[in-house]
Amino acid sequence: MSSGLISATSPLCDATPLCIAKAGELLRDGQLVAFPTETVYGLGANALDDKAVAAIYATKRRPDFNPLIVHVSGMAEAENYVRFHDAARLLARAFWPGPLTLVLPRLPDCSLSLLVSAGMDTVAVRAPAHPVARALLASAAVPIAAPSANRSGNISPTSAEAVAEELGGDVAMILNGGPCSVGLESTIVGFDGELPVLLRAGAVTRAEVESLVGTLAAAYGGIQAPGMLASHYAPRAQLRLNATDIRSGEALLAFGTEIEGATQSCNLSASGDLREAAANLFAMLRHLDKTGVATIAVMKVPEYGLGEAINDRLRRAAAPRPSRA
Ligand code: TXA
Ligand code: MG
Repeated sequence: MSSGLISATSPLCDATPLCIAKAGELLRDGQLVAFPTETVYGLGANALDDKAVAAIYATKRRPDFNPLIVHVSGMAEAENYVRFHDAARLLARAFWPGPLTLVLPRLPDCSLSLLVSAGMDTVAVRAPAHPVARALLASAAVPIAAPSANRSGNISPTSAEAVAEELGGDVAMILNGGPCSVGLESTIVGFDGELPVLLRAGAVTRAEVESLVGTLAAAYGGIQAPGMLASHYAPRAQLRLNATDIRSGEALLAFGTEIEGATQSCNLSASGDLREAAANLFAMLRHLDKTGVATIAVMKVPEYGLGEAINDRLRRAAAPRPSRA
């Protein structure tokens, strides 16, 4: 990890109390600050400030129909902006602070920028657990709109260095809180009335959510996360999923006992631990992509528990994508 402010021109700053206080000021002042959460790094802006939120879209080069998650300290703060019903309350009590996002109706007098909802009448809210994120929320004293701190369509960053690679000098500050412990984005649950709908598989498993609110419906029709583009989380290299062999020139992303023969390889978890695999997924994809290989062969990851979210990201990373410059 770096020590303090790296240089006068680098926005990277270790998450000391001084830097967190400065970051809070920058946010209140309408500037962008990237910060660690337990899932992935976020690109934060004051969620009450239209211009600041617009700067997120510009910096991410994100299609403007894609709404943003608003980070809050907890349910009491969220209740200033959105309406909770019993099922939502149950989930927030169980998983907040933590890697669960709830999509809930905006209150009529909601003061959040309309841009965070991108034309919808709902807001995605989450109380992060990472101590730096929580300290930043306290220091900024405003709700923080934050998507993952990557350019739209790229792999989510799980370290401050990865954020710097993605966004460089386009942010006022990157708070360095070390690698993200979970490494996979939050689970997103929306509601059709009170019926819970899984909008994005993520760090809280389906089974954990279903144990509290019953079977989750699949996203459909108007009840979906617009950001779940088929091609997303995409490295430059092609991905070949469920590989059982290595072909010429391929790098290997292994899970469990490795297939022999790759010149470059990373193992998500040699012992087959899905939690470890989730934490390693984006950093390893990023690393293998940087070697310049044309294809990354990915071994099969089981579909249960966190495997559902890991496979969702891998399928999106492997999907045909619009050509990128
Ligand atoms: O773990 C996470 O959730 C990270 C950290 C930074 O909190 N954030 C994150 O944000 O992954 P982002 O913007 O990369 O993904 C947010 C997803 C998008 O797919 C978006 O379409 C969906 O949430 N979303 C946001 N607001 C929504 C809403 N009102 N209704 C439905 N989907 C929404
Ligand atoms: Mg994202």
